[in-house]
Amino acid sequence: MARSTFAESGADLRLDGITKRFPGFTAIEGLDLSIAAGSFFALLGPSGCGKTTTLRLIAGLEEPTAGRILLGGKDVTSTKPYQRPVNTVFQSYALFPHMSVLENVAFGLKRRGFKDATAKAHEALRLVELDHVAQRRPAQLSGGQQQRVALARAVVNRPALLLLDEPLGALDLKLRRQMQLELKTIQGEVGLTFLHVTHDQEEAMTMADTVAVMNKGRIEQLGAPEELYELPRTAFVANFLGNSNLFTGEVVSADGDTIVVDVGGRRLAVPRVRAQRHAGEVTIGVRPEKLVLLPDEPTPQTGRNVLGPGRVIDASFSGVSTQYQVAVPGIGIVAVFAQNLGFGPVMQEGAEVWLTWSVDHGFGLSDSPEPPATSAGDDVDTSALALQRRERLQAELEEA
Ligand SMILES: Nc1ncnc2c1ncn2[C@@H]1O[C@H](COP(=O)(O)OP(=O)(O)O)[C@@H](O)[C@H]1O
Ligand SMILES: [Mg+2]
Repeated sequence: MARSTFAESGADLRLDGITKRFPGFTAIEGLDLSIAAGSFFALLGPSGCGKTTTLRLIAGLEEPTAGRILLGGKDVTSTKPYQRPVNTVFQSYALFPHMSVLENVAFGLKRRGFKDATAKAHEALRLVELDHVAQRRPAQLSGGQQQRVALARAVVNRPALLLLDEPLGALDLKLRRQMQLELKTIQGEVGLTFLHVTHDQEEAMTMADTVAVMNKGRIEQLGAPEELYELPRTAFVANFLGNSNLFTGEVVSADGDTIVVDVGGRRLAVPRVRAQRHAGEVTIGVRPEKLVLLPDEPTPQTGRNVLGPGRVIDASFSGVSTQYQVAVPGIGIVAVFAQNLGFGPVMQEGAEVWLTWSVDHGFGLSDSPEPPATSAGDDVDTSALALQRRERLQAELEEA
């Protein structure tokens, strides 16, 4: 369907210092966010990080404790939900069971007195490719079809901004992937601004032009999917968006284009421009698929990091690839993801191996992974240690 049939375009959304406190709990803290008109934006984060609260604030269903919400440049912070050009699609599609699909889609427009409600509903149903079932009841449709009706019902109002709160959560994996592609196509066709909330990193990455990774009510990092994946800035992003091998150590040299870090007695390099911090104790990382496994020690080569010898403690063959866990003394467990280029896994469990990767593929984080939760008795010790460590980092930062 041509874009012209849905003539009204999307609007910019801006959140300006939004804080939301519930009694005794701060769900959102000083959130700043700009979403360009017509973009497909994903808010990605674990359950409980504040995604739904953010959407409810934008829709006007909650009032922020502080901050402003601007839509198309207009301050809507104190307007009622129905005064905002915003529509929401939820995980449970909540269609009216006693109405036909067409009536469900036309309902909102009819109530608002639109004369061409039925024609517009047909148009929206054609967009989600369900016009041929317009006379059926929701119960006569599959889950995926019902979700598409819910989408048509939201799009038919031509909101400047469409909020999607984990709308594909109830669908099985295959249908989910299919719907992801369809949603993306529909967004391209209607040109509205989509804000899609999900805890599924693959979903966020495949659908959105821009992804914001949210953690504990804050945005940790925002960017294009490939940018977030290739250059995560925090340990949370490095591990929430795919997997990472993380190594922590002291910077021993930072003179040239690379910084060199001493990790358990080995020297590992990272490009300076890909490292957030250049002095003191830092955490660096590399994605498992960037690593190459070798049966023998490679000759040292500038531009490549080497770890080894290590031992393969697990090789999980999944057809297209094998995931290896390699124990490297003094370093820990390193994950390697190898494409199946031959016939099955190349290395057997128990094999001695060397690991190597291009320095260019590494990244340096601005923080360190949180220490794993310990028993209650250790809490005082660990928090005291964490405090000491933070003070040391602070001192080093000030020196640098
Ligand atoms: N009305 C409320 N009263 C108190 N706490 C709330 C309320 N709504 C949400 N929360 C809390 O705010 C946090 C974020 O919730 P939510 O935005 O629903 O997270 P998400 O959608 O990312 O899973 C959660 O810890 C939740 O318990
Ligand atoms: Mg939620």
